[in-house]
Amino acid sequence: MVHQKCVRKPTRKCIENVMKDYDLEKGTYERVGRILLDEMEQGLSRDTNASAVIKMFPTYVRALPDGSERGNFLALDLGGTNFRVLLITLKGASVEMENKIYPISQELMIGHGTKLFDHIASCISDFMTDHNLKGAGHLPLGFTFSFPCAQDSLNVGRLVQWTKGFACEGVQNQDVVKLLHEAIARRGDIDVECVALLNDTVGCLMSCAFLDHNTEIGVILGTGTNACYMEKLDRVGTWDGDRGEPQQVIINTEWGAFGSNGCLDFLRTDVDKAIDEASLNPGKQLYEKMISGMYMGEIVRRVLVKCVSQGLLFEGHSSDLLDTPARFYTKYISEIEKDTDEDEFRRTKIVFEELGLEEHLTDDDCRNVQYICSLVSQRAAYLASAGIATLLNRIEKPNITVAVDGSLYRYHPYFHQLMMDKTRQLLKPELNFHIRLSEDGSGRGAALVAAVAHRYHSQGIHGYKPTTNG
Ligand code: BGC
Repeated sequence: MVHQKCVRKPTRKCIENVMKDYDLEKGTYERVGRILLDEMEQGLSRDTNASAVIKMFPTYVRALPDGSERGNFLALDLGGTNFRVLLITLKGASVEMENKIYPISQELMIGHGTKLFDHIASCISDFMTDHNLKGAGHLPLGFTFSFPCAQDSLNVGRLVQWTKGFACEGVQNQDVVKLLHEAIARRGDIDVECVALLNDTVGCLMSCAFLDHNTEIGVILGTGTNACYMEKLDRVGTWDGDRGEPQQVIINTEWGAFGSNGCLDFLRTDVDKAIDEASLNPGKQLYEKMISGMYMGEIVRRVLVKCVSQGLLFEGHSSDLLDTPARFYTKYISEIEKDTDEDEFRRTKIVFEELGLEEHLTDDDCRNVQYICSLVSQRAAYLASAGIATLLNRIEKPNITVAVDGSLYRYHPYFHQLMMDKTRQLLKPELNFHIRLSEDGSGRGAALVAAVAHRYHSQGIHGYKPTTNG
């Protein structure tokens, strides 16, 4: 059904007026960077960590891969667009990988944790049957679990809170590796042991560092957003582990939580506030809600609805689908931004056909919608750049590679360039950097961390706590 709202002559000026709060000045991003640094320091300090918003979790990953990693590893990837089970074979310089995607229903995402972990264990079992791995002996597993976890060692980590679309009961404050092992034990048909728990940002950093030794930062721009980086031990006030070489540890910043104490309210728009209020976790992950793929489409949808109600788009018409929360996908933004006048807005027309608005879509609408998308994307990319520049300025090495992964970064036509430009602008002039797509961190990265953990274990090095007699 298509229903009509008030109609007024559409003009670019009115749209620009609706979008003015998304077009922020360089000084605003500099201010974001300064506040972020301060919040990060609070997270790192033992005195202020408890009340800090950005938790800066030490990950117990202290060494980057050196190319000597070998063996067969299983990996799990939970928390992004898909849940996957992977088999990775590390052979020094080369890596072989097989993986299978298993859907996670909405019901599992917000049901009881036991059901979620039983499902995960059953997917591992199915995967092992498919790949003839049952009876092949004890397999080490790296668990990429892309949620904030307070770790006590490489394979012990308590979920601090769910983010993105997950809200399973009975998991918060629990050690997720223990929950996984319990689910595996309930089945009794698979011989695997989780030797490493890692965040997706850590997998992203490790996977890229395997090829590029200057990599010290890992960033995810996908369903959610987050970053990790290599920090010197003497700057980590909360560090409880051993202080031997290498005197460094990867910190999972959990920067998505930035702003939940109100410190970003000066730039949040009415739409940002409405999205937060309607979310599964109101008041939380506010920086993430302005940047990541789970929310960007919804920001645009709400702006479009607002423009329609002012008669600025689609001759004042909306549709049931446009009026449905979360129905304007972030992938639409990438499609719309790819269009040019020359190809007659081919992709934009397909999007609005899907939304039941093709009859009312003019070429001016296409241009205006593209303008709205580009400002929402630009703000997201620039906010992420403020975060990256803050980390680069803090590490202060002359030439650092930033590993990035995530569906938003991969599929958006201009995100990379926008981030290059803004990071350059916000960086100390004497520093240099590269931003590099990290290939499959959640799989290869998990195997690399598991391989390093395995080596630690066999050498009796602190950081890994065996949970079986193995
Ligand atoms: C989670 C992070 C994760 C990020 C990207 C956020 O919602 O809190 O742990 O790294 O999403 O997946």
